Parts: sequence; structure tokens; C-alpha cells
Amino acid sequence: NMTDMDGKEHMGGMGNPSSEEGAVSCSSITTPESSAPIRKFDLTAARTTLKLDNGKTVDAWTFNGISPGPELRVTEGDQIVVTLHNKDIEDGVTIHWHGITVPCSQDGIAGVTQDAVPPGEQFTYTFIATTPGTYWYHSHQMSSIQVSKGLLGALIIEPKNGSESGTSTSEATALYQQLGSSMLVNGSERGWTIPAKPGEQVRLRLINSGNETMEFGVDGAPFRVLAMDGHDLHEPGLLERTIVPIGAGQRYDLLIQVPGAGKVVVSSPSAKGLPITIGSGNQPQHNEDGQLFSFLDYGTPLPDDPVLQAKPDRHFELKLGQTLFTKSINGKSFHDIPPMTVKEGDHVIITVSSEGGGDHPFHLHGHVFRVLRKNGEALQGSPVYLDTLLTKKGETYELYLEADNPGLWMIHCHNLKHASMGMSMMLNYE
Ligand code: C2O
Ligand code: CU
Repeated sequence: NMTDMDGKEHMGGMGNPSSEEGAVSCSSITTPESSAPIRKFDLTAARTTLKLDNGKTVDAWTFNGISPGPELRVTEGDQIVVTLHNKDIEDGVTIHWHGITVPCSQDGIAGVTQDAVPPGEQFTYTFIATTPGTYWYHSHQMSSIQVSKGLLGALIIEPKNGSESGTSTSEATALYQQLGSSMLVNGSERGWTIPAKPGEQVRLRLINSGNETMEFGVDGAPFRVLAMDGHDLHEPGLLERTIVPIGAGQRYDLLIQVPGAGKVVVSSPSAKGLPITIGSGNQPQHNEDGQLFSFLDYGTPLPDDPVLQAKPDRHFELKLGQTLFTKSINGKSFHDIPPMTVKEGDHVIITVSSEGGGDHPFHLHGHVFRVLRKNGEALQGSPVYLDTLLTKKGETYELYLEADNPGLWMIHCHNLKHASMGMSMMLNYE
């Protein structure tokens, strides 16, 4: 019984919440046969001693010998077939496709959607790359340990017909991770340079795979936020002196125009010494201050937005809280938190509020949700669709989703330490 609570995830990693008796069976929900073009990958998890570019060595757990693992790049509509091999990770390994709405049995949740793959064995994931954008993958067995050990990588879905919104002429991924005591960008402890010519429009895909929020500044050029969690924003405006806070697990795609003279530097105080440098001109002046980016009124609304007309069938309220030793939802932890139960076709409203402690990036599997309101105020700009929402103390968000992906789905804080301390529950279909 893969939906019971006996998954090894209990052993010090992210404990799994309960999935209810009588709920749909997840293992039978697979990717239907399809004639979509097949893209095959093999990822082998193994213990590896990594030598970093600053000379340090780290005992890491890697995919294909590197951390981050290989960037998987596919095209919208492709059928992705990934075989995970576990060479020698004793507790077993899985892969979760963060932000991608896969059928339940392919979601990679040890103890819920599958058993962790033991050393010497393998498991093949199959799913369709439905929505273009910036995603990532990571182990979901004892996640708080295995992600920080290095079992993660970027997954980019390119749009089928040319460019996503904005007219980027080149693009690059910057995946930030905490590996042991080192903060890395694309595996480097020195920073990352993106060659670009003056006037070029660079789409920069920022991925925060760590546990803490990272605040990025862009020096040397105005920029736009093209997408959040892979989903394009509608008519994003030009920003200057704006700090972009990226919660754990979130992705932001920025569009940056390289100036005629001078380069652009994207950097975060939480990744000191790890700047991303675009172009090759003179060093720009560093902006010490700036206002925080807010999606409340960024971009423009869609005409005749159907979501705003939808009538909700169910409403749930979740309060994220913490004491010194536990992290909770509605005052409870793990299995004690009753699952939210929906049925296929429901329009669901979830009110999430953060009652304190640090930042809690609220992550939902299997679905994309729409942010309708923050602190009671309706969003004025572009629709915002996310899989991970950064919540700070005292904030309340109203989220909307369509229950269109039957199964058993985890919800947890993407500070994976918090998840392993109780901030983990389920969204189940009846
Ligand atoms: Cu990226 Cu359940 O997480
Ligand atoms: Cu948290």
C-alpha cells in the first residue's frame, strides 16, 4: 500500500502527512499513451566527492556525477521519459518534478505515490511537458536531507512556437543551491558569467532551490519580470531599483536588456560573492536600496478573465504557524492535519495566512494556483499563477485552483526543514 504512512520518509526527513482511506488510488493514474515526441533521459543518483571551483571538496549526492544535475531541456508537448537509477543512496531516492502538473503516479513522493528506489534499482517517470517555463526537479525522499546533499537540477520547457512572452534573444539559467556550507550558482562558488552583446535581451531564469528566501537586485539596466514559477505575466512593465524576493522553491524569469556600454550584475546579499554578470562592459553602479517587487499591481489584467467569474465550490483555510520545535498548519503537524478533500471539477478557494516565524513558501503539488488577493486586496495587474507562494508573517493570501488532476497531492512549506518539522499536509480527491 503506497498511500500508507510507512514510507521511509519518516526517518528524519520530510515526514509524510496522511492520505485518507477511501481516497482515489494514485498508482493507477498514469500518463495516457501518446504519440508526442519522446525525450529520454537517464539520471543516476550516487554518492560523489565533488571538487568545487574554489578548491573545496564536498561529500555530495549527485545526479550523473554533478550537482546541480544535468539541466533537462525539452519542448512544450514532448513526452518526457526519465529513468532514475539509484547507485548507492542507502535511504532510496525519488524524483519530484517541481511545478509540473504530472499524473499522480509520476509525482515522485516516497511513501505516497511510490516507494523510494533502493540502491541498485530503477524507476521510470513518464509525463508530458505541458506548460513552457522554468521548473526544477529534486528527490522527494527525505527531501530536507537529499535536496541539501545535492539531488536536484533544472528542467526547462521551451515553448513550441518560438519565444515565450518578451523577445529574448538569448537566455540562461541560474540555479542557486545550498550545498553543505557552500552557496552555489550553477555549481559554482564564484558566480556566473553570461556572454551577451550590447542591446541583447537576455531571459534569465532564476531558480531558488535552497531553504531561505533570496532577494535579488539588478544593477546596470532596467528589467522586467517575465514569468513567475514558469507562468508568463501579462504585459510586464519595466522595473528599476527593484528588489525581487524569490522564496525557496520559486522561479523568476527576468528579461534584461544589455546596455550599449557596461554590463549588468544580478546579485543577492544572501549569495554574497555569487553575482551573475551579463555582458562585458564596465561594472555598473550598485544600488544599495530599492523597493520590493510586488505582484499586486504588476502588469495588466486580462480582458474577460474567466477565473474571476468562477463560482467556488469549496473553501479551505490554512494557518501556517510555528513554535520553536514544530511547524504547523492550523495548529497541527503531519498526519494530524486533516487533508483537504475535493472532487474533480471543483473550483477551490484556499485562504493561506502566515501567523509568524520566518518565511513560509507554500507549495502545492499537482496543480497551479492563481493568487486572487493579498491581505484582502484584489490583485490589480497581471494574473499570477504559482506552484509556490512566498508568505511572510502577518500576510494572508486568497488562492484559487481548479481541481483538475485527481490523486493524492502534498502541500508543504518549501523551507524543507519546516516541512520535516510538521508543515506538511495533503490535498486528496474523493
Ligand atoms: Cu519541490 Cu514537495 O516539493
Ligand atoms: Cu516554513
